[in-house]
Amino acid sequence: MKEFENDLICENLSVNSEGHLCFAGLDTGALAAKFGTPLYLMDEDRVRANCRAYQTAAKAAFGKNYRILYASKAASFKALYRIMREEGMGIDVVSQGEIFTAKAAGFPMEKAFFHSNNKTDADIAAAMDAGVGYFVSDNLEELAALEKEAQKRGVCQNVILRLTPGIDPHTYEAVATGKVDSKFGFAIETGLADDAVAFALQLPHIKLCGFHSHVGSQVFDSDVFLRAADVMLAFIAHAKQKYGFVASILNLGGGIGVPYVAQNPKPDLAKIISEIGARIDSRCKELAIAKPEICFEPGRSIVADAGLTLYTVGSVKTIPGYRTYVSVDGGMTDNIRYALYGSSYTILPALKMGEERGLTVDIAGRCCESGDMLQRKVPLPRSIARGDLLACLTTGAYHYSMASNYNRIPRPPVVMIRAGKAELAVRRETVEDLAALDI
Ligand code: LLP
Repeated sequence: MKEFENDLICENLSVNSEGHLCFAGLDTGALAAKFGTPLYLMDEDRVRANCRAYQTAAKAAFGKNYRILYASKAASFKALYRIMREEGMGIDVVSQGEIFTAKAAGFPMEKAFFHSNNKTDADIAAAMDAGVGYFVSDNLEELAALEKEAQKRGVCQNVILRLTPGIDPHTYEAVATGKVDSKFGFAIETGLADDAVAFALQLPHIKLCGFHSHVGSQVFDSDVFLRAADVMLAFIAHAKQKYGFVASILNLGGGIGVPYVAQNPKPDLAKIISEIGARIDSRCKELAIAKPEICFEPGRSIVADAGLTLYTVGSVKTIPGYRTYVSVDGGMTDNIRYALYGSSYTILPALKMGEERGLTVDIAGRCCESGDMLQRKVPLPRSIARGDLLACLTTGAYHYSMASNYNRIPRPPVVMIRAGKAELAVRRETVEDLAALDI
């Protein structure tokens, strides 16, 4: 078997006759030469295919009564919102920055759901100015602030309530959000969700439309979503019985995982969604409630495998008896996920794919911080040296959107590839950009 075969974990990866890694059909060596490194690449066709996979699965499971929202915290820039508009997707936005970007890209904001556990008065006003369709309300103070702003404008604002169903998805702590003691939402178990429904229903400028839950991220097991659906539908039945309130929307959040390394499972999206659909049908019958519109809010599974990052190797430093460090021209500023969560990645020698990988190295970033690592125990060819190109796979989600300017390092550009053509979607930041805000 060839050295690399196991590691081509995304369908948009291949190796050409020169032993170069190709992404979305293009030679990564040529892309690095044209756009420089570090470089974020994004496969537009893959993004669109992922949107369509969700829509096809949801249509089969729910007929017409569904909505797929792209959770744009995973990656937010204008080109992506244009794609979402063209693909007929809704979006989840969490800040004035995301709202501004989506609107500037011409996204129809009535299809936007505004999240966040702490929307300021200014956020609320800006979102209403932008014509955001739905607020996903997280707390009582926010409901009161929404009522006040909507009253001032003489409008009635669509709202859904974010509830915590009390489910532990066994994902890593930092991304688990559905547990009772989460900072997000109204807990069902403690009665807070009940209070929120009663409060929202008596606000004249709030139109309560339904409920939302998001149990966590990088979840592989459909069981987590089935349990969440059970709890949420039981709550919908309770709200109908107690308040006569008929929920028209049930948003089950995002969270479906993606493989980062060959050992990770590859979730079967169609199967997961069809199982959720079947469970919702049977529960609605049992509970004698009308089936609400079902929304999903995926971020990672829309963009992760559409991304790849290219780096150039600087130094190869062997500390005898300990380890070899290979340092690259990026690091925690463009990928904080290893430093933050210890996330696994597949990192490949982009232009030496045919070579045996006999050296085990730790890949370090360029920041002045020991924790600035991208991955440990990565197999690379013994010939690896300054100037070589490394490719880190599956970097489309939570990379560009979590990038920072630590050490005043400019953020890499994002290049979109569509039908074999590569174009800048976000230009490279310059040192002048970095100093532009300084007085
Ligand atoms: N909806 C809500 C309300 C969310 O909080 C999130 C993610 C999503 C949808 C999308 O979840 P996804 O399908 O992408 O798993 N920075 C972390 C992930 C944080 C996720 C936060 N919320 C990471 O890099 O793994």
